[in-house]
Amino acid sequence: MSESFQLDGEDIPYTPGQTVLQAALSAGRYIPHLCYHPEFKPHGSCKVCTVKIASGKSQRTAASCTLPAQPGLEIESDSDEMNELRRTLVQMLFAEGNHFCPSCEKSGNCALQALGSDLGVMTAGFRHFYPDRPVDASHPDILLDFNRCILCELCVRASCEVDEKCVFALSGRGITKHLVVNAASGQLADTDIALIDKAMQVCPVGVILTKRVGFAEPIGERRYDQRPISAQALDDAPRAATGKGRCTSCEE
Ligand code: SF4
Ligand code: FES
Repeated sequence: MSESFQLDGEDIPYTPGQTVLQAALSAGRYIPHLCYHPEFKPHGSCKVCTVKIASGKSQRTAASCTLPAQPGLEIESDSDEMNELRRTLVQMLFAEGNHFCPSCEKSGNCALQALGSDLGVMTAGFRHFYPDRPVDASHPDILLDFNRCILCELCVRASCEVDEKCVFALSGRGITKHLVVNAASGQLADTDIALIDKAMQVCPVGVILTKRVGFAEPIGERRYDQRPISAQALDDAPRAATGKGRCTSCEE
């Protein structure tokens, strides 16, 4: 018999080595997340997957994407308190970048937008920073708009671990942390990135874009037009028992 823990009062079975988020998704229970991708080691940066853990009389919070599943854990996730914290995190991400959805070609296919919608984020919440990071249009086929980066590091992981090119990196600390291109010139045109690279598929927002194909999908047919991100994530989650599921973020 497999081990289990409790998530919002429900028994969630897990296999050794799974995190709480992986076990929950495998069991058909959604925990909101942004920087987690089933094909990569958890990064733990967005904190949207934060849950509350009861242990005796004490309580603590932790990112469920890096929290190892253990027997007897009592976890609270889908509560007003946890979802309010997630709304605040989403508002902070919107405030830090230039996420003007009406003019963004990723609209309808964007995980940040879809998560905000799913969580019921109705207001800005914070004064916007309006960053002014120059776009990199140097590459003939690929455009980078750094003003939408949520620093999830998925492109960094994909480019190094899958493509073996390490085209991207994060640089700086705190509010100065930002995405950079690994070339002496800092320009994408001076890397060997290619349209077929994994790094081209994983960006959950509208930073890494293919030129000349924007706004190709009609409204109503985009990834999150008909299925909310919660349902989409469960559709996509790897399920050991059924063999169903595929990559949660890629848009093949
Ligand atoms: S460019 Fe996209 S994938 Fe890369 S760190 Fe920024 S948001 Fe994440
Ligand atoms: S999904 Fe867990 S910290 Fe981002």
